[in-house]
Amino acid sequence: SSGHPLVDGRTAQSPLVRALRAGTTQERPESTPVWFMRQAGRSLPEYRAVREGTTMLDACLRPDLASEITLQPVRRHRVDAGIFFSDIVVPLRLAGVEVDIAPGVGPVMGQAYRTPEDVARLVETEITPEALEPIAEAVALTVDELGTTPLIGFAGAPFTLAAYLVEGRPSRDHLAARSMLRGDPETWQRLVDWAADLTGTFLRAQVLAGASAAQLFDSWAGSLSLADYLDGAAGASTRALAHVADLGVPAVHFGTGTGHLLPAMRDVALAAGVRDVTVGVDYRTPLDEAARLLADTPPTAPARPRHAAPDGAQPDAAGAVAGSARTGVVPLQGNVDPALLTAPWPVLEAHVRDVLARGAAAPGHVLNLGHGVPPDTDPDVLTRVVELVHREGRAAVDR
Ligand code: CP3
Repeated sequence: SSGHPLVDGRTAQSPLVRALRAGTTQERPESTPVWFMRQAGRSLPEYRAVREGTTMLDACLRPDLASEITLQPVRRHRVDAGIFFSDIVVPLRLAGVEVDIAPGVGPVMGQAYRTPEDVARLVETEITPEALEPIAEAVALTVDELGTTPLIGFAGAPFTLAAYLVEGRPSRDHLAARSMLRGDPETWQRLVDWAADLTGTFLRAQVLAGASAAQLFDSWAGSLSLADYLDGAAGASTRALAHVADLGVPAVHFGTGTGHLLPAMRDVALAAGVRDVTVGVDYRTPLDEAARLLADTPPTAPARPRHAAPDGAQPDAAGAVAGSARTGVVPLQGNVDPALLTAPWPVLEAHVRDVLARGAAAPGHVLNLGHGVPPDTDPDVLTRVVELVHREGRAAVDR
């Protein structure tokens, strides 16, 4: 292998990349691509075996382990993409911020960052290029093994990271974070701008090392009103995605409980200069309804691509972007309800078919769950969903 898998053409024709680019190319791949958020992890016995005796964050920083864990679900389920095995708090650890992942709980910080002084000290920290070496090495090992299957790089959005930092640990309502956003907007802005550059640096390292797509996870954005999102989160998310916009990879922008934020999340990515924007949708908003919401709220500012197509595949990219900007509908990713993975197969099967049918309302569709794979999921059920999607997706295109 040589060079970047997207640029040298290895992954450019993959169903995933073609679906993520379908908003600008207006061409659906012949079969609907499928992958699962948290496809690597505790649902797999082979994951539990290799993780034995290693903490989550230590595993993320061992290139051989991170690469092996990333590849496990691709081998087992034949999904259309790998997602880099890491965590949204890894860049915090790389910058020397005290953080751990408590099993069954999630990220726990050494302290909660609540005062202007706390934040002033925090924003002095940064990631050195040397600290990113294990990430780049793990990605390079992984894309060599993946061949024509694309790797998705990812990062946490500034709001979600800031929510962990201000709360100090997982929380349901993010009261302290939302209080700082409105109560001390200057300190809040300093915090999310720092988080944007930190997480953007982490994402850029993955793309430079060979990831063919980038996903920004704003898992907790759904706790914000549209006004709070626009005032306190959107600008920083644009700043984070601007770290990869010039690299020409398609980007997915995902959150949960974000039915009221979908057009704003599209616009955040377009404003960063990302040409191929896909919006991730959780299980609460049917995909055809999501497509309608996006169509009804066209982008506020005209999309302006900052870069040339990396592979020359879209000679008319600028015009195509103008087209998608006119209608506002972009490709969608989602949104099988993770709860139904434990329902009887006929119930799950009917639900997956329904998601596929509704996904046809968007110019491109990547089938995924509405949130991560629950740890107690039977992995054979996931394999069966992949087989169903590949069969059905093909049939839908043939019709
Ligand atoms: O397969 C994949 O999706 C790739 C790897 C991945 C992990 N975390 C591995 C992981 C990804 C993309 C993430 C993102 C992540 N991490 C998010 C955004 C997506 C989402 O789920 O909303 C968030 C909010 C986190 C923070 C985090 N890390 C939580 C809430 C947890 C769960 C804690 C628990 O034990 O239930 C983690 C830990 C974590 N991240 C695990 C994995 C596989 C489980 C740790 C283990 O196996 O011990």
